[in-house]
Amino acid sequence: MRSNRRGVAVLAALISVLACAPTDESPSPAGHRAGAPGIGDPDFPRDGNGGYDVAHYDVVIDYTPASKRLEGVTTIEAAATHGLSAFNLDLAGLDVHEVTVDDSPATFTRQGDELTVRPAGPIDERDRFTVKVSYAGTPNAADASADLGTYGFLPTPDGAFVASEPNGSKTWFPANDHPADKATFDFTITVPAGLTALANGERAGQPTTTGGKTTFRWRERHPMVTYLATATLGKFELREGRTPGGIPNLAAADPRFSSTLDGLYTTSAEVTDYWATVFGPYPFGSTGGVVDDYAAGYALENQTKPLYGGFNPDESIIVHELAHQWFGNSLSIKRWKDLWLNEGFATYAEWLWSERKGRRTAETTFKKFHSRPATDPIWSYPPGRAKPGDLFNLSIYTRGAMTLHAVRRAVGDQTFFALLRAWATEHRYGHVTTDQFIELAERMSGKDLGALFDAWLFQPRRPA
Ligand code: TRP
Ligand code: ZN
Repeated sequence: MRSNRRGVAVLAALISVLACAPTDESPSPAGHRAGAPGIGDPDFPRDGNGGYDVAHYDVVIDYTPASKRLEGVTTIEAAATHGLSAFNLDLAGLDVHEVTVDDSPATFTRQGDELTVRPAGPIDERDRFTVKVSYAGTPNAADASADLGTYGFLPTPDGAFVASEPNGSKTWFPANDHPADKATFDFTITVPAGLTALANGERAGQPTTTGGKTTFRWRERHPMVTYLATATLGKFELREGRTPGGIPNLAAADPRFSSTLDGLYTTSAEVTDYWATVFGPYPFGSTGGVVDDYAAGYALENQTKPLYGGFNPDESIIVHELAHQWFGNSLSIKRWKDLWLNEGFATYAEWLWSERKGRRTAETTFKKFHSRPATDPIWSYPPGRAKPGDLFNLSIYTRGAMTLHAVRRAVGDQTFFALLRAWATEHRYGHVTTDQFIELAERMSGKDLGALFDAWLFQPRRPA
């Protein structure tokens, strides 16, 4: 493949000399041009990149908590979606030492969080290529999404708490850092002996220790968005086994939270098995969770291993993060404006859990929120269009969940639960949009739900 491309490269170079040195912006006569610096999400114009699709990330990192130094080699397998003379990766901070494309040295430049790679020869449309980036430094936290504080690769007293939603993966590995591009992942994480590194998916072999360092290998074989990647590391106590339904289950807790370990393990198992009966088969190879001593005060639904920051997770937050494994993780949004498809569903799952446990019904919770005065901020923020500067507004969660309850009221329980299951099944491992959900709800109910969705998702006022 490579030698073939070299031939093309030589030809392209010849043609370009004859055609008088094309710039990157103008396509070469052979149709190669620079990939765009953004994937096309107008709310986050520099997130992700154009011109290629990632199939796989191989993330190899060595982290020393005492010095906060990270050394990394990330190898990305991708396919060109148009002819490429150059392409971008997202990377924030860190020093890049070397970049190769298909094992040949490539030149690179950096500007803000964009790493531009120029391969020795152009890449043809649909060609697969492998880009390898060697880098090192101290990761900086990201904080662009303002309303949830800092995120990314965050140091703890004994390691790192790694929670990257919405675009913090670029703080620890070069990536096409936007949920519109999903890929499989391998992680190889080396830490001082005595510490444990926890990444997504399942173990790929037992840890190995040499020279005072231990290397952990994890593999996520199902497609995953970059913001769900984790390499949380430090001192951990582990409990491993299977859920009663047979899904591998791993709970980990920082020693400061060792009293949470059994509850986390048992509740995660019960909840995973239960959601599989409601939403359809569990989409991934394992479940569980990680409690770390980082006082985030919130949790992130990292694929297969939700991460809880500095508190003892109660049933409702475990219920929420595990519902995300279906809604947000298996089904991913293509644009951040559709975030209610993640948060509204995970919040509604909390209401369903409470109802099922014989506590408050979803109807009661719905009424409680609906009785908030017309001046309450959730009524002026329509959840069907998340705002980039206020992505995780309470309305996305609460009014998003209320939208689902309004649908349930309109179509009845039988159709509603069939709808949730069909939604999760039809788009398993794929991407979704709000329009697709509205279409499916209308198709399955045979009802025109346009006015309902418009009032609940798009109007800046309290629906009647
Ligand atoms: N998706 C998380 C939830 O609702 C919230 C969240 C967004 C988050 N960005 C984060 C948590 C960054 C931790 C770090 O469950
Ligand atoms: Zn959530």
